[in-house]
Amino acid sequence: MQSIIEVEHLEKRYNKKQALKQISFQVRPGEIFGFLGPSGSGKTTTVKILTSQLRHSSGHVQVLGDDPNRSRHAGFLSKIGVLTDNSGLYERLSVHDNLILFCRLYGVPDRRIDEVLEAMNLSDDRHTQVGKLSKGMKQRVTLGRAILHEPAILFLDEPTSALDPVNGGRIRETLREMNRRGTTIFLTTHNMEEAEELCDRVAFLNHGEISALDTPQALRLQHGDRSITVTTAHGKQVVQPNAEGAEYIRELMRRGELLAIHSNEPTLGDIFVTLTGRGLQ
Ligand SMILES: Nc1ncnc2c1ncn2[C@@H]1O[C@H](COP(=O)(O)OP(=O)(O)O)[C@@H](O)[C@H]1O
Ligand SMILES: [Mg+2]
Repeated sequence: MQSIIEVEHLEKRYNKKQALKQISFQVRPGEIFGFLGPSGSGKTTTVKILTSQLRHSSGHVQVLGDDPNRSRHAGFLSKIGVLTDNSGLYERLSVHDNLILFCRLYGVPDRRIDEVLEAMNLSDDRHTQVGKLSKGMKQRVTLGRAILHEPAILFLDEPTSALDPVNGGRIRETLREMNRRGTTIFLTTHNMEEAEELCDRVAFLNHGEISALDTPQALRLQHGDRSITVTTAHGKQVVQPNAEGAEYIRELMRRGELLAIHSNEPTLGDIFVTLTGRGLQ
């Protein structure tokens, strides 16, 4: 299979509001694909369409060779894992019992729960009622549930938005590990550092349109400034990445005058602003 997700000229209208305008992209098996955009840009709409929770208005969509519009069957759903803001948990049941229900539904052996609880840093809270958990802990339970059946594709809609940095980092590590073992990941975020750290390729979504799609590295090269800023006791100076610049920096170092050196390579956030004229928050 060339691509595991195929989207061509996808459009979604909610009554008069056009949420997605002719978007096209492909996700390859084994990729971590980032869908980046500010609030209201159409990220959740896209995830819901790809996971058969919402019908699109026009265009062509295939996920694992199936049309999600016609794929609300167990065969399709058992191959995908989904985390969205509406992935409801049973508030009155414990963490463990929420996961057990899902194991039964997908024929997953119960012992898998221990692995997932460990990865989500929830082992000590397994008997806590979900309704008593913080927002971040609930998010970890939902993510744990999304990966219980080791899906071929994992769809994550802002998976670390409610998490503190420690748990955010731990979950990113789990995602990388799952990806190494073959899971394709479709991730939406407005967190650029997260995207830089995790994604093989990213698409920038702005008002329902894709304004760029490439590897973070290629985007930085296309939109980047490769100059270097050096700091000495006299202040800051921009140095070009050429032989003259190299000689100048060497001289500063030789004289012990170089205090700091910084690349002026743009972040994905900077590039997003350059391309769309708006920030990501
Ligand atoms: N059920 C709905 N009815 C009407 N408009 C909606 C609905 N859901 C989303 N929208 C609108 O579609 C646009 C994209 O929303 P959404 O996909 O939730 O964006 P994001 O996830 O990037 O924040 C927004 O303008 C939002 O207000
Ligand atoms: Mg959203």
